[in-house]
Amino acid sequence: MFTKKLLHCFSKLETPFYYYDMELFHKSLKTLRKAADKYNCQVHYALKANANNRILEIIRDYGFGADCVSGNEVQKAIEVGFPLEKIVFAGVGKNNHEINYAIDHSIFGFNCESIEEIEIINDWAAKKQKIVPLSLRLNPDIDAVTHNFLTTGLNDNKFGIPLFYLEEAIEKLNQLNNVTLIGLHFHIGSQITSMEPYIMLCKRVNAIQDEIHEKYGLELPHINLGGGLGINYQDPNQELIPDFEKYFATIHQHLKVRNKQQVHFELGRSVVGQFGSLISRVLYIKKGINRQFAILDAGMSDLIRPALYGSYHKIENLSKQNKAIEGIKYDVVGPLCETSDSFNRDVELPLTERDDIIAIRSAGAYGEIMVSQYNLRNKPVAVYSDELIKKKEINGSVI
Ligand SMILES: Cc1ncc(COP(=O)(O)O)c(C=O)c1O
Repeated sequence: MFTKKLLHCFSKLETPFYYYDMELFHKSLKTLRKAADKYNCQVHYALKANANNRILEIIRDYGFGADCVSGNEVQKAIEVGFPLEKIVFAGVGKNNHEINYAIDHSIFGFNCESIEEIEIINDWAAKKQKIVPLSLRLNPDIDAVTHNFLTTGLNDNKFGIPLFYLEEAIEKLNQLNNVTLIGLHFHIGSQITSMEPYIMLCKRVNAIQDEIHEKYGLELPHINLGGGLGINYQDPNQELIPDFEKYFATIHQHLKVRNKQQVHFELGRSVVGQFGSLISRVLYIKKGINRQFAILDAGMSDLIRPALYGSYHKIENLSKQNKAIEGIKYDVVGPLCETSDSFNRDVELPLTERDDIIAIRSAGAYGEIMVSQYNLRNKPVAVYSDELIKKKEINGSVI
């Protein structure tokens, strides 16, 4: 993935920056497109994972929709040119401005997360003399078996309407004239690496749909199972493209799709995670007591996941790719004034020196989008592999 030529090029650029491998990105999108089409699934890309314009435009061109969790994400999806009928809007706390914006633009639908929210959307829709399509985001109380902070479908979590209140929600909908129920929505969490939670989700959804049919005679045209498919952070090269085929096949096998029902997904991390790396330089190697620190010019303001969730990202010294790892361990840290500004402790790397180029892998999702300017730091730029090649064509000296 990181050739000598590429390293040479990196060494001439100002660090840190996000490097996007566009060939891998296109391969992933083609694989996803093929798998989704095979099982007749509608995929709405979750903008929250990475809302970089260039990336969004490419995803749009592959025919995927947009899953948004804020009014600004809805606006961004519209500006980038995602078709309105492919934009869905979830989020546990939509404010008046966001609700109005989405109603005014007649997006595909809202995923509603509380009974109160349904009433508010109905009120605004009535004022505009519109009938707004919505799905109920239900909380199925299923353990996604992932990091606590990435679990969204348990009764303890703030997301979705607890199943206990489903009846109340449907009764409320029956009383309201300006909203129409088009489906059910679920999202149980993120970085889910086993198919078991999805199988459980399918079984729960089957039971809910049966119940809704028996009690209310309802057959809803849409069912949305959210996102969450995990990626291989430990060894990204082993699985540069997530197993989309297995994921859709599992759901296809276990979900009882109702007559003429359309199945939707909202994948984020699995679409963009592996094609991005945060590229950084070593500023200093500092000896501590019983420890050795590799201090990078990238920190938690550039990639917050390790500080926020204790997440693992593979760290590679690109300048010493062919050098043996000789049992030297480094605490790989950033320059910010926070102890949590650490990418990992005890990372085994080849002998590492000032100015070495370091890649922090699998940073395409929840990386650039979470950049902050804490400590008044500059924001890292995005560097795309195909633009580096273009530069080479114009000026042979770049690579
Ligand atoms: C409602 C909703 N849909 C989809 C996603 C995308 O999840 P992931 O990036 O794990 O696929 C999220 C993220 O947590 C979400 O909150």
